[in-house]
Amino acid sequence: SLPVVHTVADLRAVVRDWKRQGLTVGMVPTMGALHEGHLTLVREAGRRADRVVASNFVNPTQFAAHEDLGRYPRRQEEDARLLSGAGCHLMFAPTPEEMYPQGFATSVAVAGPALGLEGDFRPQMFGGVALVVTKLFNQVQPDLAVFGEKDYQQLMVIRRFVRDLDLPVEIVAAPTERDAAGLALSSRNDYLSEAELGVARRLNQILAEAAAAASAGRPLPGVERDAYSAILKAGFERIDYVTVRHAEDLSPFRDGVVDGPARILVAAWLGKTRLIDNRAV
Ligand code: PAJ
Repeated sequence: SLPVVHTVADLRAVVRDWKRQGLTVGMVPTMGALHEGHLTLVREAGRRADRVVASNFVNPTQFAAHEDLGRYPRRQEEDARLLSGAGCHLMFAPTPEEMYPQGFATSVAVAGPALGLEGDFRPQMFGGVALVVTKLFNQVQPDLAVFGEKDYQQLMVIRRFVRDLDLPVEIVAAPTERDAAGLALSSRNDYLSEAELGVARRLNQILAEAAAAASAGRPLPGVERDAYSAILKAGFERIDYVTVRHAEDLSPFRDGVVDGPARILVAAWLGKTRLIDNRAV
């Protein structure tokens, strides 16, 4: 079965041994409750590196007090089994105390691609992600790390702080894994009832239609308005944003039409569950 370590010291001992043998190391940061999306990242890391470490840590610093930290699904034994089947070599599952010991007093401040969209609705999140990913990179010292396009803005933020802080880690992006109906796999899909799942499964099709209209040159305010009503009509209760942005820096298109690489991004609520998705335009 898969080796699991819980402390930075034990993690370092394993990685040191690999590096002494001249092996390259890939890493996949996760918060556990793993699904096929996470496992495709692990397989991608395995194609690119000799050894793969997955971290499994529900990071408290990226959740606000009112968010779902307490009810976020935790099932480390099943996660370890799934990781092992995907070719992972080690799971790093630290405790909150190991990551944030008494007296912890340091933060990583992010701006640029962290501003707007998720940054408007979850202002603490990307600082928490940057802090924990920086720590994980320093702990594992991987040659490369794989992240999913599912969390597209997160991927852009990570690329930015890795460049800005000269972290010697290659960032690899993997496409979003979806179910047969197009619903992006997510640990938070566990929160959905059968009826809510039916609604959630309509989101990707609505995004696809909006993306097609935008890439055909239809003015974006109309595209976004139509997508907004279609998402509500499908049964979502509330929409934080649905918007078409420049693919590289997530800035808006000033002229209101797509004239370069673009991405449509959405965050919407079904009951108490907040779902995000995105796709290329
Ligand atoms: P988590 O939500 O567990 O996601 C871990 C990684 O899996 C992220 O890179 C995410 O983009 C990717 N992922 C999730 N669902 C996916 C899907 N359907 N297809 C492809 N990739 C998918 O993102 C986090 O954890 C945390 O913020 C973390 C980076 C670990 C920092 O705490």
